[in-house]
Amino acid sequence: MATRPKDKRRVARIMKIAIIGANGQLGVDLRRTLSAETLVPLAHCDLDVSNSEQVAQVLDSVSPDVVISTAAFHKVEECEKEPETSFAVNATGPRNLALACSRINAVLVHFSTDYVFDGGQQQPYTELDLPHPLNVYAVSKLAGEGMVSLTWSRHFVVRTCGLYGVAGSKGKGGNFVETMLKKAGQGVPIRVVHDQVLTPTFTGDLAEAISRLIRSEAYGLYHVSAEGQCSWYEFAREIFALTATEARLTIANAADFPSKVPRPHYSVLENKGLKSISRNVFRPWKEGLREYLTVTNREVFAA
Ligand SMILES: NC(=O)c1ccc[n+]([C@@H]2O[C@H](COP(=O)([O-])OP(=O)(O)OC[C@H]3O[C@@H](n4cnc5c(N)ncnc54)[C@H](OP(=O)(O)O)[C@@H]3O)[C@@H](O)[C@H]2O)c1
Repeated sequence: MATRPKDKRRVARIMKIAIIGANGQLGVDLRRTLSAETLVPLAHCDLDVSNSEQVAQVLDSVSPDVVISTAAFHKVEECEKEPETSFAVNATGPRNLALACSRINAVLVHFSTDYVFDGGQQQPYTELDLPHPLNVYAVSKLAGEGMVSLTWSRHFVVRTCGLYGVAGSKGKGGNFVETMLKKAGQGVPIRVVHDQVLTPTFTGDLAEAISRLIRSEAYGLYHVSAEGQCSWYEFAREIFALTATEARLTIANAADFPSKVPRPHYSVLENKGLKSISRNVFRPWKEGLREYLTVTNREVFAA
């Protein structure tokens, strides 16, 4: 009797994934993108990352294969005034998670920021460039990176940049795209800085990249953001162009909005590590923006 050839395709194992900060901007897109896995969404009220006992107890009882934490205290001005809270959430929090993950042998995905750099460079920062944070938020995030990598080897530390997603940034009270469209709708003058350069990154695309990354065992530090770069002014101009929105938009400089908290003027990340393991799924930032506007049911026009 003829035997059927063996199916050589690898059947992907369903993973149990705990998502911390599950109701945040990135958390919501992670839940959507990873919906084929067994997900355990944990909101701030379920687990406070700065509480070591609670972290240990919750993760021990959930016993996931992977923990993805988006939790952060990232209102930059408030971090400056509250360094203790900033370090408790952004540095001790990731340490608590790394300790718990090491006990249950779970992979930890932790998010960090482009703000670990000072912006003095004229070209995109790679994972090999030396961080030099300029404010308390950024120092606490860099400390969080160190806590994770020092504590537990099975980690992905993911630096990203300029996030916007369907859920809006809970921590910042709405994302930049929504703020721009709202202001244009109100007909008020909109002045946006042209001397701060970033890469706007759609959290849907970031979630897709994470979904692929956690299927590898190439643990370590990764820059994970969309391709290309623009100023905040150019970002706003593209939002209005794609949605054919009339807006009273003009150029400003960072010096026009004096702040006690220094920020990098250039914080573009190069996905060098992802490219080296053939896992860079990113498209140019304008295409991510178009996708975001489509999924938020905006009419999108050719820009
Ligand atoms: N947004 C950006 O442009 C940007 C840029 C670079 C890097 N990042 C990093 O990317 C990650 C995700 O950002 P996001 O825009 O998705 O932020 P987000 O929308 O504010 O989501 C963060 C989530 O973490 C929760 N959270 C805050 N403190 C917590 C704590 N102590 N314990 C447990 N949960 C806590 C928040 O819950 P509550 O709201 O209920 O407190 C919220 O659901 C962060 O690590 C951030 O530092 C963001």
